[in-house]
Amino acid sequence: MPARVFPNIIDGREAAGAAGGTFENRNPAKRDDLIGLFPESGAEDARRAVAAAAVAYRSWRGVPAPRRAEVLYRAAELLRERKEQLARDMTREMGKVLEETRGDVQEAIDMALLMAGEGRRLFGQTTPSELPDKFCMTVRMPVGVCALITPWNFPMAIPSWKIFPALVCGNTVVIKPSNDAPLSCWNFVRLLGEAGSPPGVVNLITGGEEAGEALVADPAVRMVSFTGSTSVGRRVSEAAAAGGKHCHLEMGGKNVVLVLADADLDLAVDGCLWGGFGTSGQRCTAASRVVVDEKVHGEFLERFAARARTLRVGDGLDPATQVGPLVNERQLQRVESYVEIGKAEGARLVCGGGRLTEGILADGWFFEPTVFAEVDPKMRIAQEEIFGPVVSVIRCRGLDDAIEIGNGVAYGLSSSIYTRDINAAFRAMREMYTGIFYVNAPTIGAEVHLPFGGTKDTGNGHRESGLAALDQFSEWKSVYVDYSGRLQRAQIDS
Ligand code: UN1
Repeated sequence: MPARVFPNIIDGREAAGAAGGTFENRNPAKRDDLIGLFPESGAEDARRAVAAAAVAYRSWRGVPAPRRAEVLYRAAELLRERKEQLARDMTREMGKVLEETRGDVQEAIDMALLMAGEGRRLFGQTTPSELPDKFCMTVRMPVGVCALITPWNFPMAIPSWKIFPALVCGNTVVIKPSNDAPLSCWNFVRLLGEAGSPPGVVNLITGGEEAGEALVADPAVRMVSFTGSTSVGRRVSEAAAAGGKHCHLEMGGKNVVLVLADADLDLAVDGCLWGGFGTSGQRCTAASRVVVDEKVHGEFLERFAARARTLRVGDGLDPATQVGPLVNERQLQRVESYVEIGKAEGARLVCGGGRLTEGILADGWFFEPTVFAEVDPKMRIAQEEIFGPVVSVIRCRGLDDAIEIGNGVAYGLSSSIYTRDINAAFRAMREMYTGIFYVNAPTIGAEVHLPFGGTKDTGNGHRESGLAALDQFSEWKSVYVDYSGRLQRAQIDS
């Protein structure tokens, strides 16, 4: 059977890539399983998509926000009805286990409902004036056409964090998903059309750098929202700055779990397994460092490694699987190379460390859950984002030392502490310079109604999801109404 060819979606219509080239989307658990071919879009496709969004913007911005929100409610219903199929498509294209891909679709549902409610709020402020008979208020207005560039690890949830607030605020969008998981975003954009988003309001093009660069550079694009690596994010930021565009960046992480001597160790082990190996460690929130007090270090390490060894790695569509494949060969090689780096740096490989190729695992990009111990906080494996199932266990002496090691990286997305001491928990909450912080829970699992993002090399000072998303996708307008019937001069001091 010939492979299905998926088109771009521009102005509500299917559109082949202008240059005709395509790329393959393959199942990372079974390389022979070709899901389909997607357009390798270029500058011309980006231009067409942005032009469609610019035309649609003229009318969409005038649709009352509560009406715009109805599209979101309907989208939530359709997502709920089709969750199982959408989750299966997602597991097939990017590998994470079915329970997690169902959760990914659920995150999109939750975001739809949160933002749909904003259609009847989108609150501004009213405030007194300095002058008599004068009224002051602020209102949100849309930004314009937004270019959204999204990763493969949360291929529906992350697009939903961006698209839903963009739409409720009155913007139109062009989204370019990662080449490693275009189908989920394609399914999502198609569904939004069915939910009633008018032609041109949500456009999708697939492809690589050329398409992404053209989108960011297009003068009609007023806002760019990017989730991905820090190196690409920097380039996006520079290109957006050249055009004076709004730019939201959500980039890497090197997240940490602090385990104090008084922690409930069973709970901490459960949390570190889920935080470190959930989604095969391919989350920007993954707990890739565990800093453990020396008093419980030995016991923690023994229990943690013993459990890591028992994790069942396999095809995410198999309900028995706990850890799916890595997304592609490049990612697998990256993880392999970090294992070599860790060994060369003198860390002790406690378990895992190798590719899995037995039986059906030979067909995909599978890697063992891997634990390093005796990791010095300055080692590269403790500093750099690996984006795979590799956890570094680092020894510390007490809370202050744990906090210092925890903060001693270039990133600042998520951190967590396991302790029974409320004072220690609050001190760590205050001191950890990360955008997200957990007590007695792992570093992953952020909920959509809270701001998501981080400090330092993780972001550029913005947050998405939650109501913070509204600040990305709208501009404030301050409005003054003088009803005195005469000229009142403000800031005149006579
Ligand atoms: C990401 O890894 O890019 O907090 C996002 C979490 C998820 C989102 C992760 N809700 O782990």
